[in-house]
Amino acid sequence: MGELPLGLSFDDVLMVPQHSAVLPAEVDISTHLTSDIPLTVPVVSSAMDTVTEETLATALARQGGIGVIHRNMPIADQVEMVARVKRAENTVIPDPFTVRADITLADLQAIMDELGVNGFPVVDDDRRLVGMVTSRDIWYVEDTSALVSSVMTPQEKLVTAPIDTKMSDARRILHDGRIEKLPLLDAEGRLAGMITAQDIENRQKFLNAAKDPNGQLRVGAAIGVGEDTFDRAQGVIEAGADAVFIDAATGHTTKVMEVVSKLRSDYGVTVVAGNVVTEQGANDLIDAGACAVKVGVGPGSICTTRVIAGVGVPQFTAIQTVSKVCRERGVATIADGGIRYSGDIVKAMAAGADLVMLGSLLAGCKESPGAIVNYQGRTWKEYRGMGSLKAMRKGSGDRYGQNSSGKLVAEGVEARVPYRGPLSDTIFQLLGGLRSGMGYVGANSLAELREKATFVRITPGGLKESHAHDITITEEPVNYQQSS
Ligand code: XMP
Repeated sequence: MGELPLGLSFDDVLMVPQHSAVLPAEVDISTHLTSDIPLTVPVVSSAMDTVTEETLATALARQGGIGVIHRNMPIADQVEMVARVKRAENTVIPDPFTVRADITLADLQAIMDELGVNGFPVVDDDRRLVGMVTSRDIWYVEDTSALVSSVMTPQEKLVTAPIDTKMSDARRILHDGRIEKLPLLDAEGRLAGMITAQDIENRQKFLNAAKDPNGQLRVGAAIGVGEDTFDRAQGVIEAGADAVFIDAATGHTTKVMEVVSKLRSDYGVTVVAGNVVTEQGANDLIDAGACAVKVGVGPGSICTTRVIAGVGVPQFTAIQTVSKVCRERGVATIADGGIRYSGDIVKAMAAGADLVMLGSLLAGCKESPGAIVNYQGRTWKEYRGMGSLKAMRKGSGDRYGQNSSGKLVAEGVEARVPYRGPLSDTIFQLLGGLRSGMGYVGANSLAELREKATFVRITPGGLKESHAHDITITEEPVNYQQSS
């Protein structure tokens, strides 16, 4: 067998400080998923059913990262979630949802609930605007069999504008009229678009948001390599997903490569593939057409793959290995799993990653799926591996080459993580740590961080010294929480 290579993890290394004139607040942490998908922050959320649905994906894109909607649900539900993120913000809504004047208020309420939209232009058969109706118009109406026409604001009382209205003018019109929605009409008076005060406000509030050229938030969608792969891919692509992420415990398989190659050739979509931990794995995925590569087998907080299947490569070494190939070949590396503190993000980026994928750190956020639970005087959220028995029974078994309806061998656990409040607070803390690390080595950008970083290997003694030690913590800071 010869001498075995050494595999290192985040805890085995520390970055060495260097002369610096860099202020953490001024460093540039922008990155790219692909050359067409720039991101202002290097964070991707895990495609897990306790991490990323539409709410978290929207919140993360507003911070400048990208969320990957999980696939442990029927195709139609995932498609709807992708569409909702894409609809969450617009410059101009090109094709707003509309209702007809002759539907009942009960029907209107059902449409509002289904689409998560609380105001509609009312149009006739020819898409001519006849009114506007919002949830406020029906608050006090008890007769739900009444028609929309009886409660809507009629056309003659509406403020509208021509379709080519400039954004600055639209802002003034919305403000002067104290209105929330401005329908845009074509020369024939047909509804041709809409601008909302909320969209304008969001644009000013979330200056770093990751958006596509249409001004819509970026979002990714997970697909597997099982039976429904191409139906699912087709659905999420039509709903506007910016990239599909292949969700497989190991990406170095013939099947994954076939799927990547078909997605590229038949759909032309951006495909992020993985997970791999070797040079050959990265090269093969890129040969198959992968536009970015995820690295990590078994580092995740809820993963048991390494002890159940005996495979994996410690994540720091895996990132170094895979990113070397990816950089030479011009594709991004995503370090997926095992990130527990902001310092791990610094180490991952310095080791060669362009982005990090986070599960446990985001599962505790307010925007993740699932309720907050109280246990032993603390607040928590549920977090489970996609290879846990419960998740696999819901459908994710094929991620581990297993049939979800049969007897299962788990490669993940069910757990809970401390509740962390809004995602924006967590991102602020994580990026604050990244900025600080860059300041310590004098790196103005992530590229400089990679170039300048030098590491030392440390011992168990060094690791013990790194953590808070020989004291009792009386006040746990938000960026250093213990999860047990
Ligand atoms: P963290 O450490 O951020 O890891 O919580 C999240 C990543 O873990 C992967 N994942 C799994 N790996 N068994 C595994 O071996 C599982 O049940 C499992 N569920 C998720 C996935 O790559 C995710 O992004």
